[in-house]
Amino acid sequence: MDPAPRRTQSRTVLVTGAGTGTGALSSVSLAQAGHRVFASMRDPGGRNAEKAQALLRRTEDAPGELSVVELDVLSEESASAAVDEVVRQADGLDVVVHNAAHLLVGVTEAFSPEEVLRAFDVNAVGALRVDRAVLPVLRRQESGLLLWIGSGTTRAVPPFLAPTPLPRQPSTPSPSRPPGTSPPTASRPRS
Ligand SMILES: NC(=O)c1ccc[n+]([C@@H]2O[C@H](COP(=O)([O-])OP(=O)(O)OC[C@H]3O[C@@H](n4cnc5c(N)ncnc54)[C@H](OP(=O)(O)O)[C@@H]3O)[C@@H](O)[C@H]2O)c1
Repeated sequence: MDPAPRRTQSRTVLVTGAGTGTGALSSVSLAQAGHRVFASMRDPGGRNAEKAQALLRRTEDAPGELSVVELDVLSEESASAAVDEVVRQADGLDVVVHNAAHLLVGVTEAFSPEEVLRAFDVNAVGALRVDRAVLPVLRRQESGLLLWIGSGTTRAVPPFLAPTPLPRQPSTPSPSRPPGTSPPTASRPRS
């Protein structure tokens, strides 16, 4: 007899920065896995309209469902309105994927403190704005999951990928290193 097919319980998932890259791919994959996905982005009716339409096209036949909602992680009002809309449409929210972030590429001294602070505002404080809207809902439900997309660049910065203001990843045991070897460090190209 064939083994019973594995079924995934459908969850309601909100993804931030879903117009491109990891956020778009995660949103499509989650809808294809049967989940109810709210792919959020800035300005889906204007600047990002084509990206929003592409996500809808790519999930037309998916077993799950994908909707696009507006969410700018720089605005508490926007985060709050997006979460309200998700809860209104889906009657709850199970998972938030904190994905929106800017990766700064270039030599460290080329970035002004203001530019780095702006990136930190999106990458780190942005997730807090969303959490402040989401956590009361999860507490009421007594369930929920918050996921952060991190980056190895918070631990070791490769040349020309600095500075990268992202929340630190939770410390997990690093793979054991042979005795007498050093951890990887950032290096500067020799002139
Ligand atoms: N790519 C990599 O190699 C890599 C490696 C490790 C980790 N990561 C992590 O993966 C995540 C996504 O990276 P990615 O490479 O997929 O980047 P990406 O394609 O540049 O996507 C970043 C997304 O964030 C959005 N965003 C920026 N500011 C926003 C705001 N204020 N509110 C809402 N959304 C905003 C952007 O939307 P707009 O179009 O509106 O700007 C964009 O869709 C990041 O957390 C990054 O640190 C990436």
